[in-house]
Amino acid sequence: MPDIGMTEPPVLEVEDLTVRFRRRGTDVAAVNGASFTLRAGETLTILGESGSGKSVSLKALMGLLPDYAETTGKVWLNGKEILGLPAAALAKLRGGALSMIFQEPMAALDPVYTIGEQIAETIIQHDHVDRRTAMRRALDLLEQVKIPSAARRLKNFPHEMSGGMRQRAMIALALACSPAVLLADEPTTALDVTVQIQILLLLRQLQQELGMAIVFVTHDVGAAAEISDRIAVMYGGRFVESGTAREIIRTPRHPYTEGLLASTVHGGMRGTKLRTIPGTPPNLARLPPGCAFAARCRYAVDACRDGDIPVAISATGAMARCVRAVETVPA
Ligand SMILES: Nc1ncnc2c1ncn2[C@@H]1O[C@H](COP(=O)(O)OP(=O)(O)OP(=O)(O)O)[C@@H](O)[C@H]1O
Ligand SMILES: [Mg+2]
Repeated sequence: MPDIGMTEPPVLEVEDLTVRFRRRGTDVAAVNGASFTLRAGETLTILGESGSGKSVSLKALMGLLPDYAETTGKVWLNGKEILGLPAAALAKLRGGALSMIFQEPMAALDPVYTIGEQIAETIIQHDHVDRRTAMRRALDLLEQVKIPSAARRLKNFPHEMSGGMRQRAMIALALACSPAVLLADEPTTALDVTVQIQILLLLRQLQQELGMAIVFVTHDVGAAAEISDRIAVMYGGRFVESGTAREIIRTPRHPYTEGLLASTVHGGMRGTKLRTIPGTPPNLARLPPGCAFAARCRYAVDACRDGDIPVAISATGAMARCVRAVETVPA
């Protein structure tokens, strides 16, 4: 969609992002043409079941996929193209304007350094300040993410912390260089519900203070409803529906989104995996022609099973990639 009337340029623009893993005779189409635009202070949630390509999308933006991943498309961060940049340039971005909270905190934290050393090192590399200054800032960050007894925690190794504290420490690490864009991959999945809510509120608050844009990844409709400005629903590596959080939650047009919402309302508890839609998600190594959801869709017709699926765009710019949605809102 053209950004008519929008004055502020986007901080992150993703166009037709595609990732395939080709290895040992298999060809996994993990992300298939994802596009989105994000402005300062905005939160976009990517919502979808396990294995739909959410983490791969974020890792592709960070340049953290293995060598055998084939990534195509265009990604602009603050107007600069970043996809396929040399490793050194990407590493610099990752410590600076672009930062990620990983699904598994232990994957991001180094077990042999204290939390303080890790955060300080990131600050030193990025801002070239002395160690004392960096440590003081690390302490400020731990306080900002509401880690109690922050001065003592600075000297902790990751394994000396609880899951919730580790998650907060990782958020502090991700915020160390005041990123313009924070990629948050299921930052609350492993935590109990009260801690989940605290972390979500904390992200919101930090976002308001720092003007950061956030791409938030979750399978939890409740969390998505709470934190998002806009939601993109991912299925089989593709965005099947996107719009404002309100549009997606109140008036979903894609049958998959409808199913996700229904499974949450009827007995699905906050934080539980959404597995109540009959059938199973598609195998990304053998995506069917047409709509990947057709096999599970109660509205499916013949046109859903072959060829390109048309996209219905509403008057407000909401998108649904669905033959049946097009019947009600012509493309
Ligand atoms: N390094 C890899 N090599 C090959 N295939 C991979 C690799 N990483 C992910 N995949 C495949 O890509 C697909 C998407 O995985 P991804 O991790 O993005 O899912 P997800 O949506 O984040 O799921 P979850 O909610 O469980 O975290 C899966 O089929 C997965 O097996
Ligand atoms: Mg994931």
